[in-house]
Amino acid sequence: MEGVTVVDHPLVQHKLTLMRDKETSTAGFRQLLREISLLLTYEVTRDLKLTARRIETPLEAMTAPILEGKKLVFASILRAGNGLLEGMLDLVPSARVAHIGIYRDPQTLEPHEYFFKAPHDLSDRVVIVVDPMLATANSASAAIEKLKERGAKDIRFVCLLAAPEGIERFRKAQPGIPVFTAAIDDYLNDHGYIVPGLGDAGDRLYGTK
Ligand code: PRP
Ligand code: URA
Repeated sequence: MEGVTVVDHPLVQHKLTLMRDKETSTAGFRQLLREISLLLTYEVTRDLKLTARRIETPLEAMTAPILEGKKLVFASILRAGNGLLEGMLDLVPSARVAHIGIYRDPQTLEPHEYFFKAPHDLSDRVVIVVDPMLATANSASAAIEKLKERGAKDIRFVCLLAAPEGIERFRKAQPGIPVFTAAIDDYLNDHGYIVPGLGDAGDRLYGTK
């Protein structure tokens, strides 16, 4: 599907299966999400531009590749986005971070924003939006609209699981924004949950149910 990358690396798929299992503990779920996020970051940053820097190794001078441009921004949709964010920061420790507090109303499935804090200069940075679940796509789309208002132009979205309905809605609402996911599941149920899915990502991550 155009604009959507399913990261089908065996390690990702193995860890995702463990995360889906309802017997997996909160600690296990958190650790697995952190591990998968490293592999997803590897894919979403694959096309970052490089420039050359002159350095000296202990043996001789050389021209070596180094990332070009300003530091990346990871934009985490609270709460569950933070489960992906932690691992991403392990891999890119100098990245800037935006926090976007959004929850979806359980009845209407409409997104409600309660917090927004981002670096000021988003316009010339790559912004990677992270949230494990793309269900109706309302939350992701609301977060991205807010980032666009604040000047973000080069935006990518990373999740763990997506519903086919969510992908379709996202691609209509946010054309041109690439999506990276570990899996596209079967469908959204009447309560807006991804099936077979993994349940409520925030609750499983933080043990709140
Ligand atoms: C979950 C998830 C996404 C959203 C996805 O968050 O982390 O943000 O639902 O659903 P959508 O695509 O239909 O908008 P939730 O609203 O449960 O908030 P929480 O992370 O605070 O638990
Ligand atoms: N949010 C979740 O945490 N899980 C779903 O299946 C859908 C939305």
